[in-house]
Amino acid sequence: MQDISLHDDGLRIEAITANVPALVFQLQQCTDGSLKSLFTSKAVTAVCGEPCPVSDIPWLPCVSNLHPDDHESFFAAMRLSAQKHTHWNWEGRVIVPPGDVKWINLRAVPRTLADGATIWDGIILNITLSKQREDESQHARELLEKLSGHVQSAREDERTKIAREIHDELGGILSTLKMDLGWLAKRMHDPVLLERTQAMSQLTMEALHTARRVAADLRPAALDNLGLAAAIEEHSATLLGQRGIAYSFTPPLQEVVLDDQHATAIFRIFQESLTNVVRHAAASSVEIGLMLAPDGLTISISDNGNGMDPERIPSFQSYGILGMQERAKQLGGELSISSTPGHGTTVYLHVPSSLVDNTTP
Ligand SMILES: Nc1ncnc2c1ncn2[C@@H]1O[C@H](COP(=O)(O)OP(=O)(O)OP(=O)(O)O)[C@@H](O)[C@H]1O
Ligand SMILES: [Mg+2]
Repeated sequence: MQDISLHDDGLRIEAITANVPALVFQLQQCTDGSLKSLFTSKAVTAVCGEPCPVSDIPWLPCVSNLHPDDHESFFAAMRLSAQKHTHWNWEGRVIVPPGDVKWINLRAVPRTLADGATIWDGIILNITLSKQREDESQHARELLEKLSGHVQSAREDERTKIAREIHDELGGILSTLKMDLGWLAKRMHDPVLLERTQAMSQLTMEALHTARRVAADLRPAALDNLGLAAAIEEHSATLLGQRGIAYSFTPPLQEVVLDDQHATAIFRIFQESLTNVVRHAAASSVEIGLMLAPDGLTISISDNGNGMDPERIPSFQSYGILGMQERAKQLGGELSISSTPGHGTTVYLHVPSSLVDNTTP
């Protein structure tokens, strides 16, 4: 009577596990290290994606078909689970006839028998599709990062070109015009004409200032001529000084030598961070530091303004901080923002020393 019910239970387990979209197994590792399959469900198709003769193989289709590169990690995870009595959780590849590679995820719970043998009850899932999607989205992410880097650098090239043309060409023309108007004014005896010529000269002067400001906004000349520290100092003076916000700038003890692209990216991160201080912080003072250490270059921008909740940053529908993070990533660096509402904000950017050409004092 009991035998019949056990038999029924066995049939029921087989029937249920055959319909589960995973391979259910029970595996024993004997004290001599050999493996013995105690149970393998019939859902091989769920793992292999196609019918596969279970009877031909020692205990699971997966073990005999392990991808050579994943063989070691499979058994290492199994050993660790047996030794530490922890869940056996493994992801890897199997080769399914005629040669298809499938990704599987094995999850099993161990228990130790009185004689020291280990038994695992577990499941194996076919995760090939989700792995493929993961690979595709990783590939798409990489492409997007590449594209964003390309767009940034094309934009910088364009800005540099336009800034130079405005500064040199337009600035040159306006300067000549201003000199010519001065020359004319000296020879002008009619007071009405003289007044009009002087007004034109004044307008030309204003146009010249505007052209210089637009060129500097597009690309600070100090970045090309004097380097990152000078450009940071100059920009702080322009943006904060003119608005009456007190600021201090601590330059590095030694000159920072960076290639043009890296210096520009760091400057743009600094620029956006300072723009945010002016636009959002309502700060009365800002401390800016540029430090060169053996592990790299760090820039910090610390304001005493109204701060923000850093937890909210990912939900901001804006591109400033996002762009800063993107640029930092492209530099191989790290950007962090620490802030407490009512107690100011500090932005740190750290870039690796490999970007800096000089590390000697
Ligand atoms: N120094 C700061 N002090 C206080 N709040 C700040 C500071 N910097 C950023 N924030 C907050 O973080 C938000 C996101 O900043 P982010 O630079 O990403 O966007 P934005 O400045 O609003 O717009 P934009 O896309 O033009 O830069 C800001 O709207 C502001 O609320
Ligand atoms: Mg901003």
